[in-house]
Amino acid sequence: MQTVFESSHISFVRVSESLVPDYLAMVNDYDRVGRFLGRGRDPISEEQDRRWVQKKLAEGAPVFSMLEKATGAFIGNIEFMGITDGAGELGIAITAQMQEKGYGTEAIPAMVRYGMDELGLSRVYLKAFPFNARAIHVYEKCGFREYDRTAEDVFMEVVRPAQQKEDALSVLPYTRDRLEDVLSFERRLREEEADWGWVIDDAYIAQVKKSFEGDTFRDALSYLAYLDGQVAGRIDACLIRSHFDGSTKAYLDWICVIKSYRHRGVGQALLERLRQELKARGVDTLIALTAANDEAQRFYKSVPDSCMRDVGIWIDV
Ligand SMILES: CC(C)(COP(=O)(O)OP(=O)(O)OC[C@H]1O[C@@H](n2cnc3c(N)ncnc32)[C@H](O)[C@@H]1OP(=O)(O)O)[C@@H](O)C(=O)NCCC(=O)NCCS
Repeated sequence: MQTVFESSHISFVRVSESLVPDYLAMVNDYDRVGRFLGRGRDPISEEQDRRWVQKKLAEGAPVFSMLEKATGAFIGNIEFMGITDGAGELGIAITAQMQEKGYGTEAIPAMVRYGMDELGLSRVYLKAFPFNARAIHVYEKCGFREYDRTAEDVFMEVVRPAQQKEDALSVLPYTRDRLEDVLSFERRLREEEADWGWVIDDAYIAQVKKSFEGDTFRDALSYLAYLDGQVAGRIDACLIRSHFDGSTKAYLDWICVIKSYRHRGVGQALLERLRQELKARGVDTLIALTAANDEAQRFYKSVPDSCMRDVGIWIDV
């Protein structure tokens, strides 16, 4: 079997029909593997598994079997289950006999590196069941950070470090630990332009801190664009769930880039990252109240796949 890439103790090879008995022993082990992958108790048949291998090979899909270099023994499978807009969803399964030997900790960074260096990914994300404490621990050890959580899933991601990107621009979720970066951004905004309308005082800081506690702001999405090691822009949105047609739409609450960082693609990068996340959540429309100033209007008009329609109204409640 041809090795596509390797790490210290693992060869990553293309999936192969000759390994089907190993695959079946792994995924049909409900208690030690299957349940962590969201599989039911019905076993996969040999025929189904062969078809899976043939399909993946025909598609040239980024899915690999991991073999122990020293013995050639099967360790497990690792894959990017889908790739959209430079972001790949990681999946991994290690057979019960090979778990807890350090292979997950070794394989995941190797796969992330392969994805970023060879497949051009700028972000790798995944979801794990909240009860899968071992997997979450290993992902954290490998540099993933939690960016969202529901009762059913923990969402984690790792983003390509800024210095490796041509433009040194990276977009990261606004998490509580980035509050200081955001406060610097807010102060800088006010140094470069006056009249922002709200004050960065203790009450504001306390209110923002509180928004990161508990579950209330679960539907609030917020991203920060880092350039030159500091926050150059931010985007804030939230989901709107309506019984009107049972749909979930999203509302763009705010997008803002520091004046001296404008016209460097920061706004587009923020919007693109938000779009990616909304797509992943099954949201099809993002609605914004558009600021009236010329600069903002030019930005909105340049947004791909969008149109200006309807008129906004602000109603005091
Ligand atoms: C999750 C998985 C990929 C991890 O790979 P692995 O090779 O078993 O993990 P490693 O040996 O590299 O590391 C295991 C770590 O988890 C820790 N761990 C074990 N059980 C744990 C638990 N219940 N809670 C928290 N940490 C736990 C170990 O102490 C070790 O951490 P340390 O090295 O910091 O001490 C692998 O166990 C697996 O495939 N499991 C079944 C399928 C699965 O869960 N896939 C992921 C779906 S999201």
